[in-house]
Amino acid sequence: MQTHDDITEMISASTINARLDELAAEIDAEFAGEDVIIICVLRGAMMFMTDMVRRLNFPMEIDFLQLKSYEETTSTGEITLLKDVGDISGKHVLVFEDIVDTGNTLQFILQHLAAKNPARLKTCALLDNPARRQIAGIAPDFTGFAIPNKFVVGYGLDYNEKYRNLSYIATINGGK
Ligand code: IMP
Ligand code: MG
Repeated sequence: MQTHDDITEMISASTINARLDELAAEIDAEFAGEDVIIICVLRGAMMFMTDMVRRLNFPMEIDFLQLKSYEETTSTGEITLLKDVGDISGKHVLVFEDIVDTGNTLQFILQHLAAKNPARLKTCALLDNPARRQIAGIAPDFTGFAIPNKFVVGYGLDYNEKYRNLSYIATINGGK
């Protein structure tokens, strides 16, 4: 395990792996027999997506969506699109996101993708921080872990682009 003085482990790699096995079973049951388009929200969900797709047993294509959120600097919650997905019209779609926090990003994703008329649109977030939710009624269909209100890094999630490579989830000392 990589250790750092400035972070504290919150969810171990083995706990993540065990939960991913359970999540994959839930998702397999939901999409059994379907041809699915997986959408990975860059960059935070990359590790989660790659670990999940190897556990899933339905035929799939994999696409990527990249967003830029200005929330941190301007507090407007404004989100713009850096990279869009291809055609999903009439398709069964499953989105992988790293964390749902205020819900602004997930709401944007749902509105953006729903406008492309998929047959089914489901979302799966590795982490959910419900205490920070600002958008009522916004929640992932599948959740890896609900976490307390702390800023977390690792397993794809970053702080100023660092720590994404950790195999575990950690809190930043000092916190959110
Ligand atoms: P929301 O729009 O507030 O729900 O935030 C969603 C996005 O903010 C996520 O996709 C992450 O990129 C980022 N984010 C929110 N909370 C955290 C955190 O605790 N650690 C790292 N990134 C976070
Ligand atoms: Mg993100």
